[in-house]
Amino acid sequence: MLKHKNDEIILILTFLLLVSNLCWLMSPKRVKECNTTRSTGKKNIQVFLLAGQSNMAGRGGVFRKVVGGNVTKVWDGFVPEECKPNRKIIRFNVAQKWEEAHEPLNYGIDCLSSCGLGPGMAFANEILKKDSKFGVIGLVPCARGGTGLDKWRNGSLPYGELVKRAKIAEKNDGIIRGLLWYHGESDVKGGNGYKDYKINLEKFIHDLRTDLNSPNLPILYVILPYPTKPFKGPYIEEVRAAQLAINIPNVIRIDAKGLQIGPDGIHLTTPAQVQLGHMFAHAFLTLNNFTLSNTYSFFKFFPSNIFS
Ligand SMILES: *[C@@H]1O[C@H](CO)[C@@H](O)[C@H](O)[C@H]1NC(C)=O
Ligand SMILES: *[C@@H]1O[C@H](CO)[C@@H](O)[C@H](O)[C@H]1NC(C)=O
Ligand SMILES: *[C@@H]1O[C@H](CO)[C@@H](O)[C@H](O)[C@H]1NC(C)=O
Ligand SMILES: *[C@@H]1O[C@H](CO)[C@@H](O)[C@H](O)[C@H]1NC(C)=O
Repeated sequence: MLKHKNDEIILILTFLLLVSNLCWLMSPKRVKECNTTRSTGKKNIQVFLLAGQSNMAGRGGVFRKVVGGNVTKVWDGFVPEECKPNRKIIRFNVAQKWEEAHEPLNYGIDCLSSCGLGPGMAFANEILKKDSKFGVIGLVPCARGGTGLDKWRNGSLPYGELVKRAKIAEKNDGIIRGLLWYHGESDVKGGNGYKDYKINLEKFIHDLRTDLNSPNLPILYVILPYPTKPFKGPYIEEVRAAQLAINIPNVIRIDAKGLQIGPDGIHLTTPAQVQLGHMFAHAFLTLNNFTLSNTYSFFKFFPSNIFS
């Protein structure tokens, strides 16, 4: 009887050991390691924020289509080789989850039907091409078409969403490496936005760095290309001048002058977005050359540059 009892105990212990091993094998931690979100508790996703207006949201390949007498805008669905998905590129979707990134990158953020090709995927692919050890790139699309700079101040929705998404991405294993910014199309059209564009852009940069607790956050931003007909942008010179005059450490200007613009006179074509993505990537890698050993102090002395 006693012997029998011992056998029973051994059997139960063996069973428990087996179960605990199974539990360990199937523990969420191990499952998560295989998850595309790579929730390993390490800050190993290289995060880039993408914000600004429609050209950052992406309108490459978007054309007007008349459906039953209604004019709509439709993306042609063409994805160049440079913008194809890559298992090392993920995006932070509208539900604030990491997922495999693919065009249209800004999908769900500010529009459903008219999102087209932007610079983000070409940027990330180019970084990985030039530096295969760069790691996983997490793109956080936050661009919104038609938003003047007054919409990008603290208290306004696009700004608030940018900060919020950046912080959540950071909590989900991200380390924020920079902001890609393409803005100004609304303010060249009229209103008062062009008058204080420089001051407001400086304030945006200052506030964003403050709110993200990242005083040296690399910011790569586009100097607007000249619009063409039929787009009316009488204040283009004023806005370009303001953008060119920004001189803040670790803020890099990228002049889009000369990039191909589509028939609406303001939105970059698909090939132009690919070129712009590469310009962003080269600018970042040049900057990144100096950041390898966390040389924050260096940034104080790092002059702004123009990559054109
Ligand atoms: C990864 O995890 C997220 C949230 O934990 C989940 O929604 C998603 O389906 C998972 N993906 C895979 C490929 O397991
Ligand atoms: C055109 O737009 C009107 C008004 O929004 C809508 O009621 C109608 O269904 C649309 N027609 C087609 C063919 O989409
Ligand atoms: C932005 O607004 C929030 C909420 O009012 C505030 O906590 C934060 O300090 C503001 N940031 C800056 C840079 O002023
Ligand atoms: C980074 O620095 C190395 C060594 O100075 C140089 O060879 C390389 O071209 C630089 N990369 C970029 C993208 O500027």
